[in-house]
Amino acid sequence: MLRRLHPEQPESFAFTPANQAWAEAQITKYPEGRQASAVIPLLWRAQEQEGWLSRPAIEEVARMLDMAYIRVLEVATFYFMFQLQPVGSVAHIQVCGTLSCMLCGSEDLMKVCQEKIAKKPHEISADGKFSWEEVECLGACANAPMAQIGKDYYEDLTTERLAEIIDEMAAGRVPTPGPQNGRYAAEPIDNLTSLAEGAENRDEHNAAVALAVKLGDTIKRIDGTEVPLTTPWQRQDDHEAEGYEDPQEPMPAHDRPADASGVTEQEAPASSAAKPVSADFPAEEPQDATAGNEAPEGGKPIAPSGEAAPATDAEDATDDKTGTADPAAPGGVYNAPRTQKPGDPAKDGQPKKPSKDE
Ligand code: FES
Repeated sequence: MLRRLHPEQPESFAFTPANQAWAEAQITKYPEGRQASAVIPLLWRAQEQEGWLSRPAIEEVARMLDMAYIRVLEVATFYFMFQLQPVGSVAHIQVCGTLSCMLCGSEDLMKVCQEKIAKKPHEISADGKFSWEEVECLGACANAPMAQIGKDYYEDLTTERLAEIIDEMAAGRVPTPGPQNGRYAAEPIDNLTSLAEGAENRDEHNAAVALAVKLGDTIKRIDGTEVPLTTPWQRQDDHEAEGYEDPQEPMPAHDRPADASGVTEQEAPASSAAKPVSADFPAEEPQDATAGNEAPEGGKPIAPSGEAAPATDAEDATDDKTGTADPAAPGGVYNAPRTQKPGDPAKDGQPKKPSKDE
């Protein structure tokens, strides 16, 4: 599907003051020179504010991140979650049309949208309040058919219920998201068949619905004042004023240049040598660089690298006679017997030629 910018564009775009502060805070999460990593969060916030992504909004994000406009346009046109055309002022309804939902009646849901909103997807209704589109699986297949309206999922829908939801939203009310047929979550419609203990004392809503009800922003255009800004490293002065000397907050990468490889000091060091572990060669306690490399009885020393140390000529002579296997050698290295014969590649460095019998 070709995704182009809408032919009618607004003159300008600006984040609200709170959204501007939020956007600038997101940029501080990334190392100096890597601010482009914030492109999707910023585009998403611009869409949450306006309902869709206009060309001026894309240009503003490019300016804030010091990116070429075409690079940001590539992101905006690639991801279907970005709306490139105006949407309804109240809600944009995304009906899942993938397998489970289609089998359970999503095509009928889309007919409701065609009747109540507009004939074609992405068209705005006559009153300007709604728009709709068909989308791919939204991951709520156990509650098919479903639709995402604004930020939340309305599940177990029927044509009648979807029509009611649209009417309620047009009247300024926001129906409770989640299953619309009385189910609590995705359990069997009759009753729970397992994990039934505690069902009587459960909360009124499942966790996703409870959060949606608590935030109350299902179809709200986000202006940045909904929740506090959660970039605590920017409030170091506040912490110090409170006498809170070591806040142990996650450290952002602001002003910390990434080196040529892109690895910063935030990368955690490996806690083990990652040697192979199996029932025959169980993991061992970490040892110092030389410990554990002693030669097992009758065997050969194990080099720190985990490979058998080079043999001397004298040792070769001994090993050729005795050949010692040490399954318990550190790191699971098998100190194999030396039974090479003339022509063996490990013995004289020459590839062994297959004989006529082989
Ligand atoms: S098929 Fe509709 S949510 Fe998965």
